[in-house]
Amino acid sequence: MKENYLIPIVPFHEPVLVRGEGSYVYDEEGKKLLDLNSGQFCTVLGHSNKDLIKEITRISETLVHTSSGMISEEVVEVSKKIHEISGNMEAYSILLSTGAESVEFALRYAKHLKGRNGIVCFQKGYHGLTLGTQSVTFGGVYAAPEVSHIFSVPIPDTFAEKEEVDNCLAVLEKTLAEHGKEIAGVLMEPIVSVGGMIFPVKEYFTEVRRLCDEYDVLLILDECQTGFGRTGSWFYYEQLGIVPDMVACAKGIGLGYPVSLVMFRNGLVPKEGMTMTHYSSHQNDGFAAAIVNFGIQYIKEHNLLERATEIGIYFLEKLKELEKTCPVYTKARGHGLMLGLDLQLKGVDNYRPVYQELTEKSTKEGVLLQGTNGGQILRFLPDYLIQKEDIDFCVEVLKKAAPGV
Ligand SMILES: Cc1ncc(COP(=O)(O)O)c(C=O)c1O
Repeated sequence: MKENYLIPIVPFHEPVLVRGEGSYVYDEEGKKLLDLNSGQFCTVLGHSNKDLIKEITRISETLVHTSSGMISEEVVEVSKKIHEISGNMEAYSILLSTGAESVEFALRYAKHLKGRNGIVCFQKGYHGLTLGTQSVTFGGVYAAPEVSHIFSVPIPDTFAEKEEVDNCLAVLEKTLAEHGKEIAGVLMEPIVSVGGMIFPVKEYFTEVRRLCDEYDVLLILDECQTGFGRTGSWFYYEQLGIVPDMVACAKGIGLGYPVSLVMFRNGLVPKEGMTMTHYSSHQNDGFAAAIVNFGIQYIKEHNLLERATEIGIYFLEKLKELEKTCPVYTKARGHGLMLGLDLQLKGVDNYRPVYQELTEKSTKEGVLLQGTNGGQILRFLPDYLIQKEDIDFCVEVLKKAAPGV
C-alpha cells in the first residue's frame, strides 16, 4: 500500500482510486473497475452523477448550513416530501449525517419517550460502531464499554423452516414478557446485511409488530441499507406490510454524501411537543435537504423504484444460473438491488484466504467485490442505474475467478 499517514483502522485494499463515473471507479493507472456496491452502498445514482453535481453547485451557492435551532426553506420542503413517501407512517423527520448517528438518535428518543432504558437487538444485527450503536451491533458482543439493558435475541434465516421462525419469535416474546417494563424498543434491520444477507419471511415481521404492540414497546427499523428505494419501494417496511414507530435511514439517501434520516410515525411525537432537545451541528442542514429533495425527484422521474425491482430480478436470475454452472457459489438470494451469494467449499472453515484470492482475481479482471461473514458471503448493492451488461460482466468475472477453478 502507498505510504500514507492514515490511522490503520482496516487493512486498506489496493488499488488507490482517483475518480468515479456511473457504476465504475478508476485507479491511478486509469484501470476501470465495476463498483458493485456503490461505494459503501451509498452512491445509488452512480458516481459523479452530472445532475447531482448541478444540484450540489446550486445549493452550495444558496445556503448549505444554518444554526441547529433554525431551518431553511429546503428543509421544510424535504420534510413534506418525506412525509409523503413514508406512506402509512405519515412521518415526522430529522436529517442527520451518518447511519450510526441516526440509530443513536432513535435510541435516545425511544428511551426518552418510553421512560425506559432497555433495548432489544438481534445477534446478527449491525447498526454502527459509535459507543451506543456498538452496544446493539451483533448483540453488543464487541461493545467496550457495554451499555446496560441490552437484550439480544436470534433472527430467523432466509431459508428458515416455520419451526425456526417460531423459535425466534418465542425467544423475543419471552424477553418481552420477562423484561417488558424495562424495554423501550426493539431495534432491527429488516434485511440483515453485514450479519449475512438474511431476508426473514414477511410473516415474521407481522408477529414482531404484534408483539411490540402487545408489550407496549417501540418497533425501530434500521433501514440504513434497505431504505430510499434499494428494495423497490421507498422503504422496505411498506413491502412487509407493517408500520414501524421509528425508522433510521442512511447511506443511499445521501447519494454518496453524509446524510441520514430518522422518521417517527405520526402520533409518536407527544401533543404537547418534545420535552428533550437534540443538537447536532449538521442536523437539518440545507445541503443535506437539497440532496434528499433531489434524490426523491430523480428517483420518481426516472422510475427507479420499478427499475430496482426489475433489474434486481435480472441480477438474481443471473446469480442463480451461475450457481448451476459453478457450484462453489450457492444460496443466491435478494430483493431489489440487495443481493447475497454464499461460497461453499468442501472442508473449508476459514474463508478469509479463499475470499482474498477471489477478490484479487476479480479486481484484476475489473470487478470490485465485497464480502461479509469472514468472506464466505458476497454482497451486491449496486447503484440503481446499473446496466444489464454490467451485471453480465460481473457474473462472467465471478465464473472466471471462482475459487478452485
Ligand atoms: C444497517 C446499518 N445500520 C447502520 C450502519 C451505520 O452506518 P454508518 O457507517 O454510516 O454510521 C450501517 C453501516 O454499514 C448499516 O449497514
